[in-house]
Amino acid sequence: MDSSDPLRMAVVIGSNREGRFGGIVARWFLETIAGTEGIDLDVIDLADLDLHTRIGIDPPEPMQSVFGRVADADAFVFVTPEYNHSFPASIKAFIDLHVEQWSGKAIGFVSYGGIAGGLRSVEALRLVFASLNAATVRNTVSFANAWDQFTDGAPSDSERSAHAANSLVQQLKWWGDALRAARRSAPLVSAGE
Ligand SMILES: Cc1cc2nc3c(=O)[nH]c(=O)nc-3n(C[C@H](O)[C@H](O)[C@H](O)COP(=O)(O)O)c2cc1C
Repeated sequence: MDSSDPLRMAVVIGSNREGRFGGIVARWFLETIAGTEGIDLDVIDLADLDLHTRIGIDPPEPMQSVFGRVADADAFVFVTPEYNHSFPASIKAFIDLHVEQWSGKAIGFVSYGGIAGGLRSVEALRLVFASLNAATVRNTVSFANAWDQFTDGAPSDSERSAHAANSLVQQLKWWGDALRAARRSAPLVSAGE
C-alpha cells in the first residue's frame, strides 16, 4: 500500500428525517473506523443538503462542493434506514444528481431498521449501483430493531458490530484500491442504457 495515497472514503448519512435515528448509527460507525490506516474519511450528511437541486443544472453552494467531493471519493459507505421495504427518497435523490461520479467506485452499506435490519434497502441499492457501474461489496453492518440495540451511542453487541464495521472497511479498501488503479489505467466503457 502506498501510504502517501490514502483511499478517499465518503460516509453518506442517508436519512434527512427530523428526529432521525441515523445520526446515532453514523456517529458510532465513524468513531469505530476512525484512524483506519490508509483511509481519508469524508462525511456527507444529506440532512445538510438541498436535494431539490434540479438534475443537469449547476447547483449553488454547498451542493457544488459536494459534487466535487463525490467525484474525488474512491469509495462510499451509505448509512441507510429502511422505508417501506426500500431505501429513503433522500438517498435516491442524491444518487441521481450524479452519474459518472459513481462509475468504477466501491460502495458499502451500514443499515438499520426493524426486523430486517435495513437489509431490504441494501439489496435495492445494489441494483441501483449496478446500473451506475459501481461495485457494491458483500459485507454489511446491519442493526435489526436498532432503537432497542443502542445505549449511550453504542450497540449492545459492540464487539461483533465493531468487527463487522472493520471488515466492511477492509473490503472497501481492497476494492477501492483495485478500482482506483483500474480507473487510472483506462476509462471504464459504459454500455449505455
Ligand atoms: C416512511 C417510513 C417507512 C418505514 N418503513 C419501514 C420498513 O419497511 N421496514 C422497517 O424495518 N422499518 C421501517 N421504518 C422504520 C424505520 O426503519 C425507522 O423509523 C428508522 O429509525 C428510520 O431511520 P431514521 O430515523 O434515521 O430516519 C419506516 C419508517 C418510516 C419513517
